[in-house]
Amino acid sequence: MTETINLAKRIEKQLPAELVNFMLVAGKVAVSQGQNLYLVGGVVRDLLLGKPNFDLDLVVEGDAIDLAHQLIQINQGKITTHPRFKTAKLQWDKWSVDLATARSETYARPGALPSVKPGSLTSDLFRRDFTINAMAICLNPGRYGELIDLYGGRDDLEHKLVRILHEQSFTDDATRIWRGLRYEQRLNFHLERETLELLKRDIPMLDTISGDRIRYELECIFGEERPEKVLRRAEELGVLLRLHPALRGNGWLAEKFKQARQLTSPNLPPIGLYLALLAYRLSDKESEHLISYLRLSKPIAQTLRDSLSLKAKLKSLADPELTPSRIHHLLDGYSSPAITANLLASDSPVARQHIQLFLGKLRYIKPALTGNDLLRLGIAPGPQIKELLERLHEARLDGKVRSKQGEKELVKGWLTQKDIS
Ligand code: CTP
Repeated sequence: MTETINLAKRIEKQLPAELVNFMLVAGKVAVSQGQNLYLVGGVVRDLLLGKPNFDLDLVVEGDAIDLAHQLIQINQGKITTHPRFKTAKLQWDKWSVDLATARSETYARPGALPSVKPGSLTSDLFRRDFTINAMAICLNPGRYGELIDLYGGRDDLEHKLVRILHEQSFTDDATRIWRGLRYEQRLNFHLERETLELLKRDIPMLDTISGDRIRYELECIFGEERPEKVLRRAEELGVLLRLHPALRGNGWLAEKFKQARQLTSPNLPPIGLYLALLAYRLSDKESEHLISYLRLSKPIAQTLRDSLSLKAKLKSLADPELTPSRIHHLLDGYSSPAITANLLASDSPVARQHIQLFLGKLRYIKPALTGNDLLRLGIAPGPQIKELLERLHEARLDGKVRSKQGEKELVKGWLTQKDIS
């Protein structure tokens, strides 16, 4: 007989009181409905590791939607249900809890989304990716806090190992390849020996996964504290080249990611910035390939395009003689993450200085006069209004004029010159 481990005290210590109370009540209600309730997945892993994680995932042996309806009456919040998947989400105050009906999954073919049918907790845990993510804690009153560890997850946590549950795991769902690298690098674990062999064997299966799902995995990686570690490992194992053969997870990238974080701290760098740095070495054509494969959103695709288009202008930006208006002209209209990517990527101190001047000052400079002001000065409507505003903008940028009055005089001067000519 294996010893029973009870984590009630740990739950009490590590989770906020509201969530602890919620789980106590939820367990009672579930049992009163003749159901069993469990806390599962990442939060169990993180409880054992002593890491903060307040994303409660609950599994119900029975019907999650029935339980959720009952609980929302007690908790007074919002409920969202997906009857097809028999799942529900409860949200109240700043909390959000997912409830799912225990299910088993089968894969019709590699990479396909699984067919799902109601099942027991055992089958629900067996469908999961890694042993460290396949543990549960019972929340029924009589067994509250009891750890259910059918696949040796606790042992693997202790030995710092990421291990799949069965030999077909990566074939069934090759996104687990990326997930495995993410957990390994986040937790400073190792892929267990056989898992590593199977991962390598199944790398070609990544081609069975839709670009949308791979993009989601990348987004998760960019949400990590140090995504460069995952990308370095992905290059080492030949996973990154499945994304695009020209991509590299090298020291250059690590350095640039680090600088990106320093620049955007306390927030994480936007995904577009990370992606633009990753794709910085690609040609326009290769980048287009990546954009369509990952089905990137319009703004992020634009950031990638802008970033490469700006890269081609870095030589011009490295000219120490550039006037502010010329710097503005070279950088205006590009998305901010694309400009920042070039600031980080450029080798030229002069170009970097010019980009910084633009980001910190020039991009905010506008003429004081508007089109209407020009009309009021007696200038006839037409293309010359735009032209004059552009000239004023330039004069402002280059410090040739500093006040609204000065701008008026400048315009008048231009007009008399024109009269003379
Ligand atoms: N899961 C899985 N296979 C996947 C995705 C998810 O088995 N391809 C399971 C795992 O048991 C995981 C749980 O679903 O623990 C929830 O998934 P997710 O929220 O993505 O992961 P977390 O474990 O919560 O991890 P993270 O800390 O990265 O959020």
